[in-house]
Amino acid sequence: MNKPIFLIGFMGSGKTTLGKKLAKQLHKKFIDLDEKIVQAIGMSIPDFFKKHGENEFRLLESKLLKEQTDSNTVISTGGGSPCYFDNMDWIRNNGIALYLQLSPKALHSRLEQSNIASRPSLGGLKGEALLEFIENKLQERVSFYQQAHIHIDQINTPLETICQSIKSYEENA
Ligand code: S3P
Repeated sequence: MNKPIFLIGFMGSGKTTLGKKLAKQLHKKFIDLDEKIVQAIGMSIPDFFKKHGENEFRLLESKLLKEQTDSNTVISTGGGSPCYFDNMDWIRNNGIALYLQLSPKALHSRLEQSNIASRPSLGGLKGEALLEFIENKLQERVSFYQQAHIHIDQINTPLETICQSIKSYEENA
């Protein structure tokens, strides 16, 4: 089986960083879905949210997601990508889905160190309010993330082990 690999998980779980490493290791191309969206809209994601609203963003995100059919790619999706429309079904049917699983606390400390303003879904929250938001949002989204073919504890799992999990999934699928 040769299918594109989709990295899914909450904002701040490290999808882009791992995606780049994985693509290099597997000799595949790396695609960042958020970057594809930015190229298509010609503005930043926060500006698009402000101008056109989240619904328009989700429609475009779904359309661009479903264009990612190249089996020679590793794609990092946005944190909300699997959670709208039939996107998760589509990912499961057309690719290999890897869920980067992190606790709300770990996500919180990673997101606190990132540029909050670049992620409109976070609503500019910080500190305790951000942690509470992450806990609630993750609870809302986790049933989608858990449909991934492979689950990874991103903080502790070596790249080699992840590649091995992909290989054995491919052999047994
Ligand atoms: C979003 C996550 C972002 C981006 C957009 C919305 C979300 O991607 O798609 O800001 O709702 O979780 P990252 O997960 O790469 O931050």
